[in-house]
Amino acid sequence: MVVLGIESTAHTASVGVVGEDAEVLSLASDMYRPPSGGIHPREAANHHVEVLPSLVGQALESAGVKPKDIEAVAFAQGPGLGPCLRAGATVARMLSLAWDRPLVPVNHCVAHVEIARVLSGLEDPLLLYASGGNTQVIAYGRGRYRVLGETLDIGIGNFLDKLWIGLGGTFPGGPAIEAEARRGTELLPLPYSVHGMDVAFSGILTATLALHAKGANRPDLAYSVEATTYSMLTEITERALAHRGRDSVVLGGGVACNERLRGMVKTMVESRGGTMFAPPKSLCVDNGAMIAWTGRLAFRAGLTSSVEASAVQPRQRTDLVATPWRND
Ligand code: ATP
Ligand code: FE2
Repeated sequence: MVVLGIESTAHTASVGVVGEDAEVLSLASDMYRPPSGGIHPREAANHHVEVLPSLVGQALESAGVKPKDIEAVAFAQGPGLGPCLRAGATVARMLSLAWDRPLVPVNHCVAHVEIARVLSGLEDPLLLYASGGNTQVIAYGRGRYRVLGETLDIGIGNFLDKLWIGLGGTFPGGPAIEAEARRGTELLPLPYSVHGMDVAFSGILTATLALHAKGANRPDLAYSVEATTYSMLTEITERALAHRGRDSVVLGGGVACNERLRGMVKTMVESRGGTMFAPPKSLCVDNGAMIAWTGRLAFRAGLTSSVEASAVQPRQRTDLVATPWRND
């Protein structure tokens, strides 16, 4: 028996089918790319409504399963953009009713964490979750995923996206800045914004755009932005490791696709005698497989929802979600 998961929190509509031991049987995704500027929630939601039915069909077909093989239908309940969340939740409720299978709500952030954790094979690692809307250093403790440090303003991915659009590019900014940064040579002075265990990015955004207005070139700006912000993330991750007495780190979220971030965290962790793991990129970005896997964990622990109680929660926080499958 397998679990089907639906992701639709922001720009990506995705359906995944997952079996035992987080075996990803299929993953069908379609990302909304605005022609210019940032994401408009309602336009992204319209995109998701259009593509989700055929993504469900594709996911079932390439997994080689029929609706009768599906054990439960999981969906991302939050956090995310309200209209986008509602698109995925509506499809999940409909499938749950049509197939007569339990409906399992999943927290999107916990899903990024759980897919990275199971693939790492590490029992209790520290987690650096770096994505569009979120930037958190997370450790499990006393029945919850605890946020030890996080962004005080925007997520690092949103920072990279806004910056790239400000430099004349289009969404998504992270991969484009990574490519541009490879041609950069000069480290330009930018604010280094670490506040205890937390970080902030909006001042760096303003400072980078100001340097650009004064004539700094894009490769050097990209190179400097990556060096500065990924150092900040590496620093708070190292401090959390020291405080928690852990030695291993797992990366998750779309920005964890970045080779430079992976390299910096790996160097830091290995210098402390630990190991660093990052999932394949298709499972770092938003994807239905992580929702299916976490849905499977939740379902096996007895967490299901009636349709009536399955309202989306756009501001649901990582540290407020019950995780009864972790009984350590
Ligand atoms: P969340 O809801 O978890 O905050 P999200 O919905 O924004 O996340 P993700 O797919 O987890 O979505 O992350 C998308 C972000 O990842 C975008 O901001 C994108 O620019 C960034 N990103 C993707 N690839 C890279 C890369 N190679 N380097 C840096 N950033 C990247
Ligand atoms: Fe995400």
